[in-house]
Amino acid sequence: MNTKQQALMNQYVADLAVLNVKFHNLHWNVVGERFVPVHVYLEEQYDDFFEKYDEVAERLKMLGEFAPASMSEYLKLTSVEELENRDYPIADVYKIVQAEFNNLKALVTDIRNLADEAGDFVTVGLMEDHVADFDKQLWFIAQSLK
Ligand SMILES: [Fe+2]
Repeated sequence: MNTKQQALMNQYVADLAVLNVKFHNLHWNVVGERFVPVHVYLEEQYDDFFEKYDEVAERLKMLGEFAPASMSEYLKLTSVEELENRDYPIADVYKIVQAEFNNLKALVTDIRNLADEAGDFVTVGLMEDHVADFDKQLWFIAQSLK
């Protein structure tokens, strides 16, 4: 694995860890008439982040590397900006979530392409599955924002 792929996979693990917290913030603090479905939707997303977090860390281990495994490392490595604790109207939540999924899709596409150059087709397959999931969420959000 080249060092760029490793660095981006480390960042991805960190981003998923921080997004788990960030999406809990939104899950708790979203407000509006459709609170319940959006609250539940956000829970589904952080549960999914948690699964992906483990998958990517375990893939790093399979490739002979250590995955970042501490909060202090995550805060150094992540590109995710955290949110203050306040009320978040539903339209704002969707825009925040949309931006995060766009960032994740770009990051994971880069990892996929670097893994492809290295002939690492297992990581390619895993990252393609993740991008497919993010694409679906981006469609859900686009429909919700119409
Ligand atoms: Fe909850």
